Amino acid sequence: MGLKKGVEVKPASGKLGVLLPGMGAVATTFVAGVEAVKRGLARPIGSMCEMGTIRLGKRTDNNVPRLRDYVSLAALDDLRFAGWDIFPEDMYQAAVKAGVLERSLLDQLKAPLQAIRPMPAVFEQAWVKKLSGSNVKRGASKMELAEQLMADIARFQKESGCDRLVTVWCGSTEIYREPVEVHSSLARFEAGLRASDDNIAPSQVYAYAAVKLGVPFANGAPNLTTDVPAIQELARATSTPIAGKDFKTGQTLIKTVLAPMLKARLLGLDGWYSTNILGNRDGEVLDDPESFKTKEVSKLGALEHILQPDKYPDLYRDFHHVVRINYYPPRGDNKEGWDNIDIRGWLGYPMQIKVNFLCRDSILAAPIVLDLALFMDFAHRAGMSGIQEWLSFYFKSPMTKPGLYPEHDLFIQLMKLNNTLRYTRGDELITHLGAEYYD
Ligand SMILES: NC(=O)c1ccc[n+]([C@@H]2O[C@H](COP(=O)([O-])OP(=O)(O)OC[C@H]3O[C@@H](n4cnc5c(N)ncnc54)[C@H](O)[C@@H]3O)[C@@H](O)[C@H]2O)c1
Repeated sequence: MGLKKGVEVKPASGKLGVLLPGMGAVATTFVAGVEAVKRGLARPIGSMCEMGTIRLGKRTDNNVPRLRDYVSLAALDDLRFAGWDIFPEDMYQAAVKAGVLERSLLDQLKAPLQAIRPMPAVFEQAWVKKLSGSNVKRGASKMELAEQLMADIARFQKESGCDRLVTVWCGSTEIYREPVEVHSSLARFEAGLRASDDNIAPSQVYAYAAVKLGVPFANGAPNLTTDVPAIQELARATSTPIAGKDFKTGQTLIKTVLAPMLKARLLGLDGWYSTNILGNRDGEVLDDPESFKTKEVSKLGALEHILQPDKYPDLYRDFHHVVRINYYPPRGDNKEGWDNIDIRGWLGYPMQIKVNFLCRDSILAAPIVLDLALFMDFAHRAGMSGIQEWLSFYFKSPMTKPGLYPEHDLFIQLMKLNNTLRYTRGDELITHLGAEYYD
């Protein structure tokens, strides 16, 4: 990850272009949100970069600057947006269709949203069975498609006058496929692109194009886009940050708060049943069992890693973990999630916890897109490259170096994020030991 203590970070001067493959509910809620905040129409609630603070030094020092004043982050006024989608609608039309934000708010943002039209996408229906659209690139090979994406990126940078770029994948969930030989090295991957290998997903063509140009790439879907040696090798070669995967927004956010509590208090777990109803296009895509499999794999990992059944067999061996997502159109983007958690206390007595989260998917995801765009750009300016584990905080299934298990506990992830920022500034890390107050 290339983290250096007290490193000189290039200032966030000039414009930052945010590239969005996939301009659906999450992407439009993010861009409309930034435009609304810029005009003073709403507050950037949920964004650590915009609203967060960071404690420095001792508790008694009372030194808690705003995060923005502590590390240099691009200003909202300096953000410019571009993206790709298989549907040709501009961002205003796409946001209206997504139905997340009120029409009265969108109408006030019509001009900036209408100005953003999706560039033709790299898409294969074999990877997202439920979708088909007309705004799609043609090319003789997947390498040629990657070159077209690189030309799009270069053109956008020139026309927008952006100094720096970042990519945040907000496209649909692709079907689940294990990495194969073509993903095992950059040379094999490039040969595979030239041969249009079926095992290379469209999202991987985007990741290749971005990372090849040295543009950071964060993956908001559970796709294995950057979780393959080839893209990681390319990220090292071009000194580019990559991060993923799958925005941690609703049920998994709650899970990675409650599970550490059970483990901290050594309460046993018999089973955790999670179910959701969801009616947006993401829900429709996830209604396909092959796309759902990708999501399921991404969602199931958290409990195992947090509870460590191998270390606590009496408490966590063989617990049942079930995750369901049911497509239910009347709810649109307003997902409802239920968790039933069967736990065990003193002397093995059973108890239950029930959680009913009536959330709004894209409202929870949009500030994550913003933070990832700003932090990935920060990481790049700070000379960090490869997998950005310190951004695990934002992901359901955080990427780590192969062989290293991921940290899922939200508060460990938060400490990791804050300490990474302190470290780049050369400040003391906070361990919460607190002995100095009593010396
Ligand atoms: N909203 C959340 O809380 C949340 C949480 C975690 C992950 N995610 C993931 O984020 C992604 C976006 O979610 P959403 O609710 O905005 O979905 P959405 O269906 O509204 O938007 C996705 C868009 O991606 C486009 N697309 C698909 N394949 C593409 C390709 N190859 N190139 C360009 N565009 C492509 C689709 O046409 C669609 O417009 C999904 O993968 C979802 O699983 C969302």
